[in-house]
Amino acid sequence: MKKILFLIYIVGSICYSQKFKNLAETPPLGWNSWNTFATDIDEQLVKDIADQFVELGLKDAGYEYIVLDDGWMAKERDKNGNLMAHPEKFPSGMKALADYIHSKGLKFGLYNCAGATTCAGYPGSRGHEYQDALLYASWDVDYLKYDWCDTDKLNAEGAYITMRDAIKSAGRPIVFSICEWGDNEPWKWAKDVGHSWRVTGDIVNCWDCELGHGSWASFGVWKIINLRKNIRKAAGPGHWNDFDMMEVGNGMTDAEDRSHFAMWSMLASPLILGNDLRTISKETLKTISNKNVIAVNQDPLGIQGFRFLNENNIEIWVKPLDNESWAMVFVNMNNEPINLNFDWNKHMIGDDINNRILDVKHNVYKINDLFNNTSLGNTSKKLKATIGVHDVLMIKLQKS
Ligand code: GLA
Repeated sequence: MKKILFLIYIVGSICYSQKFKNLAETPPLGWNSWNTFATDIDEQLVKDIADQFVELGLKDAGYEYIVLDDGWMAKERDKNGNLMAHPEKFPSGMKALADYIHSKGLKFGLYNCAGATTCAGYPGSRGHEYQDALLYASWDVDYLKYDWCDTDKLNAEGAYITMRDAIKSAGRPIVFSICEWGDNEPWKWAKDVGHSWRVTGDIVNCWDCELGHGSWASFGVWKIINLRKNIRKAAGPGHWNDFDMMEVGNGMTDAEDRSHFAMWSMLASPLILGNDLRTISKETLKTISNKNVIAVNQDPLGIQGFRFLNENNIEIWVKPLDNESWAMVFVNMNNEPINLNFDWNKHMIGDDINNRILDVKHNVYKINDLFNNTSLGNTSKKLKATIGVHDVLMIKLQKS
């Protein structure tokens, strides 16, 4: 009898103590309410966003998840301890909203927190993990962002494992998006816990600023990029470094937005939009629906790109792609346009971690400009271009 029980325990642990596999094999693409709306969200807004996914062609471009961040729930749990949708903001409830989103061929995500309360003071999951996971499964939730406020002395790895196991035992495949801001170095332990993990504190819509809020700070695009070093080897299919929801369309220049979007694609970060899709400009839409750039982010190898060089204040980043191709960006960090004159023969580009070399001595690579969808010749000649202020030239190199 003891042996049988032991066997059941072992089989049970193997089945449940794992995250759902075959999810987020490429970085998740979607939209999240926080950056623009904070807790000012309601069911009409979410339905409008779902409609816009289809009408604007974002669904065709690959965007899939619509994620409600903090503020979706009532201030108290019900008498059985269950979370409830906020009665005024979401009178039809979360299952009805999930059904609407699914009817459009899209997926539905929710937010909660490992602590006793969420960052905006709503009920957190601490002590309710299995109950909440069952509720999400019954609502047909596809994605859970799980935050880290009000966690007191909780151990991060343990808290995220508890929620992972709760999700697994509830039985519905849910992408598990860890959000503890990189404080506990999740790139070291979260590969088998979540499908992505935030690597920094919150983003803010500026190029390179840092904004203090008393006990915490938020970071502009380049602050976020520069905050973490040596974490790229942790990223790969099913487990991504998450550089936060994007600020494209939220007030930076169109050039800065292009560079931001290009960089998140190079970093193999989840591409989660954070702007108001009901009032989106033509230029923003053009940037976020560029299929060439999205394809770099979604490359099946799932290798995170890295900084190759900073030359004349041009940030040069590279990312190995499938079929021995490479993506490359040149971001002009100067406050005036710059003429790029890049001599392929003077640079040995290689990725030590993944054993890849961009071997221009023995091969000629065709060059395509990804934002403009044009050919720029090949690597037998210097690459010349004028790059505007904070703008980007993003190219793909393919063996001819
Ligand atoms: C934290 C997270 C943000 C957002 C807010 C919600 O700050 O990092 O992304 O979810 O909480 O309160």
